[in-house]
Amino acid sequence: MPAVVISESGGTANGDFPAKLTKQVVVCSIIAAFGGLMFGYDIGISGGVTSMDDFLIKFFPVVYAKKHHAKENNYCKYDNQLLQLFTSSLYLAAIAASFVASIFCKKFGRKLTIQFASVFFVIGAILSTGAVNLLMLIAGRICLGAGVGFGNQAIPLFISEIAPTRYRGSLNICFQLLITVGILCANFVNYGTSRLHPYGWRVSLGGAAVPALILLIGSTVITETPTSLVERGKKDKGLSVLRKIRGVEDVEKEFQSIVQATETANQTKHSYKSLFKRSRRPQLVVSIVLQVFQQFTGINVIMFYAPVLFQTMGFASDASLLSAAVTGSINVVSTLVANFMVDRVGRKVLLIEAAFQMLIAQSVIGGIISTQLKTTNTMSPTYATIVVVLICFFVSGFAWSWGPLGWLIPSEIFPLEVRNAGFFFAVGTNMLFTFLIAQAFLTMLCHMRAGIFFFFAAWVLVMLFFAIFLLPETKGIPIDEMTERVWKKHWFWKRYFDEEEDNGKGDAKQAQTTAQEN
Ligand code: BGC
Repeated sequence: MPAVVISESGGTANGDFPAKLTKQVVVCSIIAAFGGLMFGYDIGISGGVTSMDDFLIKFFPVVYAKKHHAKENNYCKYDNQLLQLFTSSLYLAAIAASFVASIFCKKFGRKLTIQFASVFFVIGAILSTGAVNLLMLIAGRICLGAGVGFGNQAIPLFISEIAPTRYRGSLNICFQLLITVGILCANFVNYGTSRLHPYGWRVSLGGAAVPALILLIGSTVITETPTSLVERGKKDKGLSVLRKIRGVEDVEKEFQSIVQATETANQTKHSYKSLFKRSRRPQLVVSIVLQVFQQFTGINVIMFYAPVLFQTMGFASDASLLSAAVTGSINVVSTLVANFMVDRVGRKVLLIEAAFQMLIAQSVIGGIISTQLKTTNTMSPTYATIVVVLICFFVSGFAWSWGPLGWLIPSEIFPLEVRNAGFFFAVGTNMLFTFLIAQAFLTMLCHMRAGIFFFFAAWVLVMLFFAIFLLPETKGIPIDEMTERVWKKHWFWKRYFDEEEDNGKGDAKQAQTTAQEN
């Protein structure tokens, strides 16, 4: 549940539209957020599965042999491109799928896109559970990737569009919250199934079908967003849905804002072409950069490879999975902090504070590993425990900032005419960089050793400056008024709006109307 109270009033603080936080909005957001559970489950399951001997013997015998070689090198025992391809193939498929989904979502709506996501995911889970060879295993990953691409494209947009402005952050973060719950469940499942020989890995991979089925069934009762209904010519339905989800009669102003945004959007025939206009550059750059930065925090090194990383530090296989479960729990609890804070203190404060936190954690971990872990020793239990604590410190910072906000901010900053296309760049970038990290990490660990932590720390420093100077605050601004109230007022980005372009006019006009009426 989001950390918000059901509002009794329909007040219009900050020029916001009248709205209550209705049961419909909360329920729809939570159901849609189950797509996050699918995504998170997959992120969390791969690392554990790839460290299970039964799985390695069946699909990656070379890695298995290397892992059990007597004089192995600590940093290189899991370095195998094929094994990494198992984890990362999903993300390549997801990039292609999210592009298709961005067009599908505009044409057929958010709801159907979400339903397609769950169907792909169920098929993917079946294929990977029943895999008899590597090809079938990878085919399963590709279907799961299609599910992730469709889900991640539609769900954050869906929630941002149905949420009342002042709860948008909290509700949207339900998506990230369920990503973290998915990762945690996967960690526990792996912990249990690693003792089930020889089919434990099949149970782990098959578990992906559970959140997908919940989403599939749940998605039959969610409503389509008013924006998507109006965008597809169903104006009356859009108005009645808006009344229902806002819980107040007086939705006229918000409806007008949607209609105007839609009219502008409908004049734009090619959203991808329009996305490359000068006045779209700020939103596009910020969305892409946020996702690149999100991945260059190094979070997925921990999410994918925590068990491998912990084994590298000398923990036994069981202890490694357990430590991964501890970091997973911290991830969930800390995301609740974001849930509670994001609409109160705003986006920037969270991002800046967390960058400091992650910078300290990464640097100290790098220092400890470089001095304490040589190629063939194991780390002392004291140091290994300190590293686990620091990893938890790092994960908590990520979880209340760059994790959820990497999804929230791109879903709320684009004007409607380029919202799907723009958001595709966020999803696609996320998937691409997740792929790169998943594919490269074990090799980087092998070659860079502890230096990998300093590499990520350097990125976090850059992110800190970006958050301070270049990121505008979007808290409390209605989604269709961002251009006027955020971008055109920002000290740096306003230069991109010098000459008004055709497609900026509707947005501008609409904001003026709302301001006058208020
Ligand atoms: C990121 C994932 C990451 C997860 C961790 C998400 O926001 O996109 O790559 O694994 O957070 O909680």
